[in-house]
Amino acid sequence: MRQKIQALKAQLAELAPETAEALEEMRLKYLSKKGALNALFADFKLVPNEEKKEVGALINELKQLATDKYAELKERLENSRQKGDASLDLSRTAYPMPLGSRHPLHIVRDEIINIFSRLGFNVAEGPEIEDDWHVFESLNFAEDHPARDMQDTFFVSHTPELVLRTHTSSVQSRVMEQGQPPFRIICPGRVYRNEAISARAHCFFHQVEALYVDEKVTFADLRQVLMHFAQEMFGTETKIRLRPSFFPFTEPSAEMDISCNICGGEGCGFCKHTGWVEILGCGMVDPAVLESCGIDSKKYTGYALGMGVERITNLKYRVSDLRLFSENDLRFLRQFTAAH
Ligand code: DAH
Repeated sequence: MRQKIQALKAQLAELAPETAEALEEMRLKYLSKKGALNALFADFKLVPNEEKKEVGALINELKQLATDKYAELKERLENSRQKGDASLDLSRTAYPMPLGSRHPLHIVRDEIINIFSRLGFNVAEGPEIEDDWHVFESLNFAEDHPARDMQDTFFVSHTPELVLRTHTSSVQSRVMEQGQPPFRIICPGRVYRNEAISARAHCFFHQVEALYVDEKVTFADLRQVLMHFAQEMFGTETKIRLRPSFFPFTEPSAEMDISCNICGGEGCGFCKHTGWVEILGCGMVDPAVLESCGIDSKKYTGYALGMGVERITNLKYRVSDLRLFSENDLRFLRQFTAAH
């Protein structure tokens, strides 16, 4: 019996399992119900009475030893697994952290918003599914205006008449009907038009609308803000040009061109050799629009302007195909990594 105990003690001392499987094997062999230690306790019955005390102490000591060793080995194995012990090389260079990229349209939209917020404009938003009143009626669109045609507009329902908004000008009337001037808002958002998708047109795109209504707002204020915007966005060399135009909700109305920032005004394919590119529509808010939103048009005047974010982005980043903006092609998107 004593010899057996000695032998087991020696075996245990030599054991150094390196894997979880080997450790489990050790547990089964020595510490489980059918293990060597329990077998010793069974044999204990045969030990003569006068030796029982001494032998019992030896077996208990062995059992303690085995349990401690098992616990210690288990802990060591777990620790080394966590730290990856053998493979830990502190001198190795770190893994590069991949930088995310921001969508170019978001970069440009935020830049536009930033320019206007520095002038005191606040962001206002409205729904993309909008009623006829906010998209057309309140903005002075005549009953038979072509924009109200199915060819241009996606209709969602007839009663009530809901459409996918075709422009962010709808946010103007939403804001104006809810209060009284002064209003100084900038409205970014997605808009929809029933167009065939190609490199130059898409059925959805993005706009930013700006509106300023207060006492004594004039066309000169509008021109000044446009000039400031163009130069902040495209550089101080940029020139602007206003051409008379027509929109139902502004009178007078204009379109603004900037000197082509690709050829610097010399003339190139992008500006169709004119040296100018159109970037937005604008004008003085039509008194009829103010009145339909409950604002006294004798007391207040205002200007509004609206631009396409894709167009500005094309000018900034020279993206030649509109479809790239919505296709989620990583080869395209990754080019904007770490931009801003
Ligand atoms: N809503 C016009 C469009 O979608 C853009 C626009 C033109 C907005 C003139 C305005 C404006 O606020 O005054 O084409």
